[in-house]
Parts: sequence; structure tokens; C-alpha cells
Amino acid sequence: MTPRQGVSWTNPGEPALIVRAANPVAWLVYDKGAKALAETLLSCQANACEHNSPEKGEKRGRMMSTAKMADCGEASQPDSVRMALGRRSIVMVGLMGCGKSSVGKRLASRLGLAFTDADEEIEQSARKTINEIFADHGEAFFRDGERRVIARLLNSGPQVLATGGGAFLNPETRANIKAGGISIWLKADLAVLMKRVAKRDTRPLLRNGDPEATMRQLMDVRYPVYAQADLTIESRDTPHDQIVNEIIDALRRHPALMPHPGQQSEPSASTRGLIARGVTAAVAHAVNPPRRLDARTVPVSLPGRAYDVKIGPGLVADAGRLIAEKFGAAKCGIVTDENVARHHLATLEGSLRAAGLHAGTIILPAGEQTKSFRELAPLCERLLAMGLERGDLVVPLGGGVIGDLAGFAASILRRGVRFVQIPTSLLAQVDSSVGGKTGINTPQGKNLIGTFHQPSLVLADTNVLTTLPVREMRAGYAEVAKYGLLGDAQFFGWLEGNWRNIFGNDVGALTHAIETSVKAKADIVVRDEHETGDRALLNLGHTFGHALEAWTGYSSRLLHGEGVAIGMGLAFRLSEQLGLCAAGTAARVDRHLAEVGLPTRINEIPGTKADAGELLALMGQDKKVRSGRLTFIMARGIGQAFVTRDIEPDTVKAFLAREIAG
Ligand SMILES: NC(=O)c1ccc[n+]([C@@H]2O[C@H](COP(=O)([O-])OP(=O)(O)OC[C@H]3O[C@@H](n4cnc5c(N)ncnc54)[C@H](O)[C@@H]3O)[C@@H](O)[C@H]2O)c1
Repeated sequence: MTPRQGVSWTNPGEPALIVRAANPVAWLVYDKGAKALAETLLSCQANACEHNSPEKGEKRGRMMSTAKMADCGEASQPDSVRMALGRRSIVMVGLMGCGKSSVGKRLASRLGLAFTDADEEIEQSARKTINEIFADHGEAFFRDGERRVIARLLNSGPQVLATGGGAFLNPETRANIKAGGISIWLKADLAVLMKRVAKRDTRPLLRNGDPEATMRQLMDVRYPVYAQADLTIESRDTPHDQIVNEIIDALRRHPALMPHPGQQSEPSASTRGLIARGVTAAVAHAVNPPRRLDARTVPVSLPGRAYDVKIGPGLVADAGRLIAEKFGAAKCGIVTDENVARHHLATLEGSLRAAGLHAGTIILPAGEQTKSFRELAPLCERLLAMGLERGDLVVPLGGGVIGDLAGFAASILRRGVRFVQIPTSLLAQVDSSVGGKTGINTPQGKNLIGTFHQPSLVLADTNVLTTLPVREMRAGYAEVAKYGLLGDAQFFGWLEGNWRNIFGNDVGALTHAIETSVKAKADIVVRDEHETGDRALLNLGHTFGHALEAWTGYSSRLLHGEGVAIGMGLAFRLSEQLGLCAAGTAARVDRHLAEVGLPTRINEIPGTKADAGELLALMGQDKKVRSGRLTFIMARGIGQAFVTRDIEPDTVKAFLAREIAG
């Protein structure tokens, strides 16, 4: 057979097959194969190994050697590990001298994460060196501080965290690390450890006559406990970068960081064909990248104003295509806040530009105070200055604040233009982006000025939640739990078993939680768009919650979702005390919200003590007051909420007084 242009191979019978591109950047070399494989590869539409350049956000296509193809996977490994980690941290454990700090720092820089040394944090908190803490207060005191510092650090976002040698021995710290991180034990033998620690004299536990015997004893006691870490990596006398490569490789394969089954897509027929011909799956997928799974779609079937809520990973990057498909050449004015802009604006702008839809971007300050007349007027003027016309789109990219404000602006701009919500907080994805309530705050209260204006499309991208601070994530989770508590006991049970996966950024669990919440909200909104009946159920926990938010001055003392969590705790305890639901129901609600890290009691709000009369008065200013009667959402059980105006103010006041008295 005559080799045609672009294909050549060695003598028949020889095992190597060489495939050459017409304009080669490199060669593909396979040690086994045949003409059919060569031709399949050449005719393969995706004969390039494509991957995203994180720096430039641009796609590059090129032919690569097999070695390079393997590299293609390598280059994206740190990114994929960082994405899969979500809010979890990587926690380095092991004995002094095993390399937790030096390897940890390099690992952090490869993954683009912050590095924190827990010992340094402890020294800063105590304003003493560790030796001084041991000398002045003893080991027990140090261990207690260490436990608290590590718990705090685990709560403050993804990072690489090096812990002191004794930290992992504390069962509470181990449990915290399990819940909020992936632990890596750097295991070193005695000779390696002694060589490294010999250079330092700062280790309090080695200050005796026979450091080697002490080290051996520590190994005997601690190694069985370190062995409980998620990963064990041998720490030897090799360059640290090699150890870091091993860690990244091991992390990539760790089950806790594997994509959820729901995230994986079926290989295409041509990929299966390549694999059947002996090409490894990695190379076949690189040649022919797997199709991304379609997002889940929840329809909001309002007559004349129906729209879809799409939920899944990667929707921000795909927004240009999705918007162009649905709205044609409509121009898009993005409205976002400075926090969200830092993480996600470039991706959205790139996607809209690629589709020829980007009209301009407005970046506003983050925070509740942005939902105001002060910001609304210039926002409307800037949108008009962009040249947005009736057929164009406002695109809020942000949490509930940006969604409410930009949605309101869209509703009044040129007497109403369409808008596409791209919610970036969990609260916005499960609640505020769906249902069409828009508005701003005034000195008289929250959301007192606004409109009902339904979005034309909602894109809830689960990937963006990886950058959401954990406290905001919890606040959004309160609204997720609310859907279970108000009408879906089975969902609440699922949350009790799966909340860790949600906080661990498991895409399947997140998608399920958001989809179930959005379906619940959409059902209610379709039944009662303007809140004349059933829609009030969505206010479970809100009558109390809004009063608490007002009492704390809408400050960072209490986030909206935290107020809702306390409000739900109060609603179930009051329901139980009024004999409306079975004993033990409220305790179950409290238990779940508390294990997630949400407050359920008024006294958990930091600062001054509340006053029952004052809270009751604030409830009286709620929008849901009708003819002077307060509206409460009470429950006959989990998943069985109902609306009532039959609770006497004195009953509520006495109940609140008992709660505050503790
Ligand atoms: N319209 C409705 O039906 C409805 C329903 C519930 C709540 N709301 C309103 O929603 C608002 C609260 O929404 P929220 O909790 O999203 O507040 P928010 O918009 O202030 O967002 C919370 C914080 O998280 C940041 N953030 C958001 N997404 C991020 C991301 N992906 N990465 C990093 N940082 C991110 C924001 O910059 C902000 O600092 C309130 O004004 C409330 O009244 C409206």
C-alpha cells in the first residue's frame, strides 16, 4: 500500500506507526496500529488536542505528539484538582521535618491556592512563639489553641494548610479536616527526618538528651494515626517538585475528587472506535474530546412569560452561545459586582464577545447597600448609554443584590427590557433569580420598591460556586433546606445525608439540590405569581428572619440566609410549643442546620442581646402584614408548612422572650 500524504509508517511488520499532519507541529507515534487507525486519526474532525489556556482564556487547537498529548492532560491537572476541591482545603500532616511547609508552599503555588502554616497562625494569635506557649502554658493549652485555629482556617476557603505534627492526633481536628479538607500525610523514614531536624533547634518536643529516641517514639505513636489521612505520599530526598507532581497525580485519582457520575458523559462513537483499535482512553479523549453533559433545565411555565432555568457546570462560559441561540443578535449589558467580576467576568465577557453580543459591562460595589435609589439611577443611565434597545438584554451576573437591582432596572428601562439572570451565589441560584421579584431597599425597609418582572432565561452555573465564601454558601443553603422543610420531607432527608457533598462542590449533589429547589419555587410561582396565596409559603422563617435582619441593621452580624435559618428554627419550635407538630421535630431541624454551621437561636447572633418587644414591633413592619395581622408560616411536620394569621402577638412576644432568656 502506498502511503498517502500525511501518513507514513516504517517497514510492514514493524510496530511503529507514524501519522503526520499536513502542516505538522508534531508527530503522532503509536507503537502498535494499522492503516485504519492512522486514517481514523487523520479523518477525525477533532484531530487537535484542545484545551483552554487559563491565562488567556482562549482555545488553542494543535496537533501534538503522544508525549504532548499526555502533557495536555498534565497541563490542566492543577486546574482540575483546584476545581474539584471546591471549598475544601488540602491539609498537610506528618512529623516535624517531613516537608509539610516546603512541599505545601510549592503545592499551593502550583494549584493557585493560598498557603497557610497553622503554627505561624497560632504564634500570631498568641503573640508568642510556640516554644514560649509550651513554656508558659504547657502542651494542653497549645493543643487547644491549635484545634481552634485549624477549625477557623478550614472554614476560611480553599488553601493548602500545613499543620503541626501533633494536630492530626486530636480527634476533633481530624473530624474537621475530614469534613473540610483532603489530608495528605508526608511519610518520611527516621534517617530523613533526623537529617532535616538536625539543622533546627526550634522543636520543643526534641529538646532532650536523645532526639533520635524521641523521634522514634513519636513515629510509633503517631504513624498509625497519620495513616488515617486521605493520601500518603513518601517524603524522601528528592526534589520537592517531584513530590508535588506525585501529590497532584494522586489527588487527581482520589475518589473524593473524581467527577460525580452524573458529570461524566458517554464517549462518542468515534472515541469508542479509537479505544477499540487499541488507543488508550486518555489519548482517544484528547483527540476527540467528550461532549459535555447537557445542563438540567427547569421550566417556569408562566403563561406568556415562560422561561427556562438551566443548571449545571460551565454555563457562564457557554452563555454567549445559549443567549444567541435563544435571542439571536440581542446586545447584552452585563451588570455585576466587584467580587464576582474578579472571578467570573472575563469568562462571561469572552463568551458574549465570541458570540458578538457584548454591549458593555457595569461593575458596582458589592453589598446590600447597592440595592438603592442611589445606584439605580446611574445604572439605568449607563445601560441607556450602552445603546440597549427594547429587543436587547440586561445580564445581571451576581448574587441576589445584583439580580434584584439589575432586574428592577431592566423592568423600567424603556418601559421594560428582557433580562437573563446569571446568579452566582447559592441563594440567588435557588431563590432570588427565579420568580421575577425585583427591587431595591429604602430607609423604610427592604425590598419596599420593586416590580414583578420575570427573567427570560436563568443560567445557574454550579462552577461559579467554588469561589463563593463559605459563610455565603451556608446562607444560601438555608434557603435550600427551606424547600425541604416547607414541602418536601424526602428532600430534607436527602439533605441530611448529602449536605457534605454539596459543600464539597460535588457537581451532581449541587445540581440535584439546586434543581429540586428551583422546581419547588417554580411550582409555587406558577400557582401564585403575585403572592396572594401559596407563594407566602416561601417565607418560612422569613417573618422572624426579616425582623432579626432589621434589628441587626442589615449588617454583617447576620446574613439574610442566617436570619432565615434562625427564623426556621423559631418557626418549628413555636409550632411544636403550640402543639401543631410532633415533639422532636424542631430538634431535628435544629440539628441539621447546626451541623451545617448555621445558627438556629437568636442568642447566637453576636453582639447585644435582643428584646422581644422590639423584635415584635419590627415584625409589624413586614410587607406581609395584612389588616394589622402578622402572617406566619407554621408547620405540622417536616415538609408540611402552612400559612396562618391566627397567632396572637402576645403569644409570639412571650415565645420570643423565652427564646432570648435561653
Ligand atoms: N428577588 C427575590 O425573590 C429574592 C429572594 C431572596 C433574596 N433576595 C435578595 O437577595 C439578596 C441577597 O442575595 P445574596 O445572598 O446572593 O447576596 P449578595 O448578592 O450580596 O452576594 C453575597 C456576597 O457574595 C459575593 N458573591 C456572589 N457570588 C459570588 C461568587 N460566585 N464568588 C465570590 N463571591 C460571590 C457578593 O459579591 C457578595 O459579597 C438580598 O438583597 C435579598 O433581599 C431576593
